[in-house]
Amino acid sequence: MTYTSSTVLVPDVSAVPRHIAIIMDGNGRWATQRRLPRVAGHSRGVDAVRATVEACARRGVEYLTLFAFSSENWRRPEDEVSFLMRLFVTALEREIGKLHANGIKLRVVGDLSAFDRRIQDLIRRAETKTARNTRLTLTIAANYGGRWDIMQATRKLVDEAALTGRPVEVSEEAFSEHLAMAYAPEPDLFIRTGGEQRVSNFLLWQLAYTEFYFTDTFWPDFDADALNHAIGSYTERERRFGRTSAQLETQSPQSQNADSLSC
Ligand code: IPE
Ligand code: IPE
Ligand code: MG
Repeated sequence: MTYTSSTVLVPDVSAVPRHIAIIMDGNGRWATQRRLPRVAGHSRGVDAVRATVEACARRGVEYLTLFAFSSENWRRPEDEVSFLMRLFVTALEREIGKLHANGIKLRVVGDLSAFDRRIQDLIRRAETKTARNTRLTLTIAANYGGRWDIMQATRKLVDEAALTGRPVEVSEEAFSEHLAMAYAPEPDLFIRTGGEQRVSNFLLWQLAYTEFYFTDTFWPDFDADALNHAIGSYTERERRFGRTSAQLETQSPQSQNADSLSC
């Protein structure tokens, strides 16, 4: 199992974050500033996605998770929602060959049952095509909500128990195995562009010990330099996971885990 809970075990920490999760915000304001319709910002946002995926692959990031459409974004005007759906389809159709050629594995997480069949099929085909790639796992969160994820994982846990006739196993490990991103370690670095400082129902469970980085840069302006800046900030942080600074100097994560297991 790849999933490790940072509140149970202290994960290994490396200079470059293994997993970066981004709330790509500010598309609308980017466009409004230029007297363009909001959707022009979404279109330009695709260029920033491309630049960020490339930069992450080059920096050796293993997992990149991008929040593309939240479970709350259905509240937007109907024409903006349908534009976003069309953009998702065209971007997927256009980019999948290049992603595959570059060794990128694509995953899409969220309540996909809300999307029409054509989108669901396209997602399935793209995931299957890139399933064996190992350079970078790119996850797109679409119709995703952290609370939806917690609820669906709980439901699976309960259903599994009902099926086997055993009592529900209530543990972090058993629960997190059913989260939509059970295949990935928890994010090391969370980035939100566009100036807002909130989580907006993104990966609620998995952000327990993630480092947060907020920037005023609007998503369409985010690029390799902006990513390097965020990673630079991350490398200056001290990730203590509950320990003291003095302990960090003398203990490796493994010995800390051994200690907590022995008590
Ligand atoms: C993020 O940009 C994209 C989506 C939520 C789909 P916004 O559309 O939220 O842009 P702002 O926050 O209104 O500027
Ligand atoms: C969060 O952005 C969701 C995505 C980027 C997909 P929003 O712009 O929807 O967030 P709020 O509503 O301002 O919190
Ligand atoms: Mg926004």
